[in-house]
Amino acid sequence: IMSRISVLFVCLGNICRSPTAHAVFQSMVDKQGLSDQIYVDSCGTGDWHIGYAPDPRSQQHALDRGYQMDNLRARLVNDQDFDQFDYILVMDKQNLADLKAMNCQNFTGELGLFLDFCRNPNFSDYSEVPDPYYSGDQGFSFVLDLIEDASAELLLQIKDRI
Ligand code: 4NP
Repeated sequence: IMSRISVLFVCLGNICRSPTAHAVFQSMVDKQGLSDQIYVDSCGTGDWHIGYAPDPRSQQHALDRGYQMDNLRARLVNDQDFDQFDYILVMDKQNLADLKAMNCQNFTGELGLFLDFCRNPNFSDYSEVPDPYYSGDQGFSFVLDLIEDASAELLLQIKDRI
């Protein structure tokens, strides 16, 4: 029997880190022919950038690695997300605290730090995806390194469930 699994990536602005995770993980899902079984989305805890496309720097660094993200638009997290997603994966501990302060008592899925899925020992010191917003190119590139590693392991674990 096949069940559909849904994944929501969350950061602060929903213009740098979580849309990058959205695009990278969606690309891996698509490449493995699992688009019908795995639904992917992203959102932010802050409302400054609602309706905006991802930061041009995030878009360019993603495109350099073959990930297109210009179709994504920032949205705010809402209470219904806790009814609709199996995995809610956040980029940092502040995101986690902000979500736990919402109406999530009945949430039965997995809420946690995305980088808990990292397998590369080089990244074992990182529990949070550093916000690249005020950093240079290397910040955006490193966000992709972390996200690619965590995404690969997340997909392996989800494939065990579908
Ligand atoms: P994100 O990065 O949370 O990875 O989308 C940020 C983008 C913008 C702001 C903060 C974080 N901001 O405060 O404008």
